[in-house]
Amino acid sequence: MTQKLYIQTNGCQMNEYDSDKMRDILLDSHAMEITLAPENADVLLLNTCSIREKAQEKVFSAIGRWRKLKQKNPKIIIGVGGCVASQEGAAIQKRAPYVDIVFGPQTLHRLPALLDQARTTHKKVVDISFPEIEKFDALPEPRAEGVKAFVSVMEGCSKYCTYCVVPYTRGEEISRPLNDVVDEIIALAKQGVREINLLGQNVNAYCGEMEDGALASFALLLHCVASIGGIDRLRFTTSHPLEFTDDLIEAFAEIPELVNHLHLPVQSGSNDVLARMKRDYSREDYLVKLEKLKVIRPNISLSSDFIVGFPDESDEEFEETMSLIEAVEFDFSYSFIYSPRPGTPAAEFNDNISMEIKKQRLSRLKMRLNEMTQNFSNAMIGSTQTILVEGESKKNALQMTGRTENNRVVNFTGHPRLKGQFVDILITEALPNSLRGRMVETSLNTIK
Ligand code: 5AD
Ligand code: SF4
Repeated sequence: MTQKLYIQTNGCQMNEYDSDKMRDILLDSHAMEITLAPENADVLLLNTCSIREKAQEKVFSAIGRWRKLKQKNPKIIIGVGGCVASQEGAAIQKRAPYVDIVFGPQTLHRLPALLDQARTTHKKVVDISFPEIEKFDALPEPRAEGVKAFVSVMEGCSKYCTYCVVPYTRGEEISRPLNDVVDEIIALAKQGVREINLLGQNVNAYCGEMEDGALASFALLLHCVASIGGIDRLRFTTSHPLEFTDDLIEAFAEIPELVNHLHLPVQSGSNDVLARMKRDYSREDYLVKLEKLKVIRPNISLSSDFIVGFPDESDEEFEETMSLIEAVEFDFSYSFIYSPRPGTPAAEFNDNISMEIKKQRLSRLKMRLNEMTQNFSNAMIGSTQTILVEGESKKNALQMTGRTENNRVVNFTGHPRLKGQFVDILITEALPNSLRGRMVETSLNTIK
């Protein structure tokens, strides 16, 4: 009987991407099929995240539920991958002895062999090494699911912000060769993909080898990807402000496929906090980059990540974050309370700020950011937005759904044949989590 695979994914888009690859590779090697019900699975994999404490807590509660399944059927194989696996290694199996396989973000391509090893030896298997780019060489042809796709172009991070575990869990920055990325995207375009989101923990540090041995910058990669037939929309996440260089800003002028949106995490509006975080830019540097970008794209939508309550963050320092968001007017953002991560420098910093104050600050920041998001949505009413139609709306089969350049979901009445097309929609209504609109007549003429 066909073996069934269940994968649970926590964390970032990089983890989502990695989970898709785990699926593809095991479906290929072991002719498995995916199940959405853990109780039906023969192999259960958890792809973990350790960026903040809460994410990490989820690991043991999730696999705790799988333990009962294994008690009923000891043949089940349980694997834990991702960043917690990378950090904890065999310690996971000490605490949860029913876990058969522990693998890291860079060894997921070895899953078929790890699975066989666990089954034949009945011993615990751990492989959390960093064989770097080998992972990408070992992956099967990408499989498109719909009209959008993520493509990982670099892995890891060498920035070592003082609060962050990524350089330790995913290793230092390593870029895929330019042609490998381009070939993957050509294969996706052939399967009907129209929008690509280039992924990397620090994506604009991309520095990929070309055929002649020279190194391609991220801006050059963007030009190459945009020129691939069928790819008409391009995004990237996540960028670091330091490497948001002039040639990248210029790319927004030269590449119409680049969406009118940028996620550029600033983390804090205070120069002292930024220095303690080792972000290597100032509030002023950040603002100057955005100003340059706005000369090229005056209406660009901006989003950011914020950390509130970094060790010893004073009231004044926090207020500088509040004033920065007023100056920039972010479209949407993510904000978090600082979470000390074992092994990172900031975990050793003195912190005299109580959790209560941190929570108050977070709720103030979130409230204002949410207001800005709603204002942004309201301001879109009456505008015409190009959306890439993803398919039928889940809630109403007569409606089609897609996303604007700034990632807002738009529902509108339309024909299913519009899937995969770019259409112009006049926005008529802004709901808390989506927009409504109607198709502009002229957009029918441009449908390819
Ligand atoms: N505590 C809180 N937030 C963090 N982030 C990264 N590390 C931490 C931490 N230790 C946030 C940053 C980053 C996002 C992905 O997660 O804002 O941009
Ligand atoms: Fe972490 Fe991003 Fe800093 Fe790298 S640049 S250490 S991934 S926060």
